[in-house]
Amino acid sequence: EHIEWDAEAAEKGGYDTYMLKEIYEQPTALTNTLIGRLHDETGEVNLDIGLDPASFKRISIIACGTAYYAGLVGEYLIEGLARIPVEVDVASEYRYRHPIVSENTLAIVVSQSGETIDTLEALREAKKGGAKTLGVINAKGSSMTRELDDTLYIHAGPEIGVASTKAYTSMVSAFLMLALWLARARGTLTEERAQELLHAARELPRLVEEALSPERVERIRQVAEKYAGARDYLFLGRGVNAPTAFEGALKLKEISYIHAEAYAAGEMKHGPIALIDENLPVVVVATESPLLEKTISNVQEVRARSGRVIALLSDGDTENARHADDVLYVPRAHEMVSPVVNVVALQLLSYFTATALGRDVDKPRNLAKSVTVE
Ligand code: G6P
Repeated sequence: EHIEWDAEAAEKGGYDTYMLKEIYEQPTALTNTLIGRLHDETGEVNLDIGLDPASFKRISIIACGTAYYAGLVGEYLIEGLARIPVEVDVASEYRYRHPIVSENTLAIVVSQSGETIDTLEALREAKKGGAKTLGVINAKGSSMTRELDDTLYIHAGPEIGVASTKAYTSMVSAFLMLALWLARARGTLTEERAQELLHAARELPRLVEEALSPERVERIRQVAEKYAGARDYLFLGRGVNAPTAFEGALKLKEISYIHAEAYAAGEMKHGPIALIDENLPVVVVATESPLLEKTISNVQEVRARSGRVIALLSDGDTENARHADDVLYVPRAHEMVSPVVNVVALQLLSYFTATALGRDVDKPRNLAKSVTVE
């Protein structure tokens, strides 16, 4: 037994937990997701996918859990850049809701394990309707990959921690590449904008490295500990970062067992605002965006009701810091790639909240890494 323990410690590469190790592996994982696929000089996106990107009229993205939130970011990216209608479903709904599918539909299933039963069955449902199918998958040779028309592997490497971290950021980056691939084929981007996005994508490993600097991590740890006694948490974000808020809340629930809800910031006034009092920490993703002003006015609404605001702000945004109780600065990134950079702070916030509460982050209660029964 002693030997086993040593072997496990070695596998964690000096980190206390697999989850923390995997959080720190993200710059490498992202490099592996992106490598050889984007070419700045020519503006080319080479994904080695044997499907015609110009042939689809509609895209359905299907997944569970964290992969579903990656799919929601995918919706913003694909609709925004390639101008194709996208719908995103949780697999357990898709498989039973008699979805409308045709040969012009591209069904994209997203899965770290490639084994989740609901997602696998949803894939079969899409195929039955004649859809072309593409996977955004981590595990090589997994069940889904054997039934898909084609697979875009994310190459994040093995993920052991039950709460998904590096697979999420790699999935989101894969969607960025898919959006660019579709946009190039459909001619929806100017040369200049395409170059700008390719460049932004290639910066991701460096930006995430920067997001993991010791000073930032320490600051997040302090904020996590300050609010670790909270009973509930609210997460808000807009646009491409609304899913960042959803994923931040999911991470916190999964490993700290603190109840957390997440809303698109503009929805706050339609219900969740009733929850706000001085005991409610509200995490607001308020990084650089054309809609930042609107997000900040949501922050002021929280403040006016004595909510505690933890704001994710872009480096250098001292102007908006005054609206927050606590600020977590994150590296400045192009809005379209910012979900990858921003979520890292929320992964760490949930991590340090959970460890402050003495939770077993690698094996949270009641959860499984891969759910292969319905
Ligand atoms: C489980 C895991 C989640 C994961 C979800 C989907 O519920 O606990 O972390 O996001 O399954 O898994 P997949 O392997 O399909 O991405």
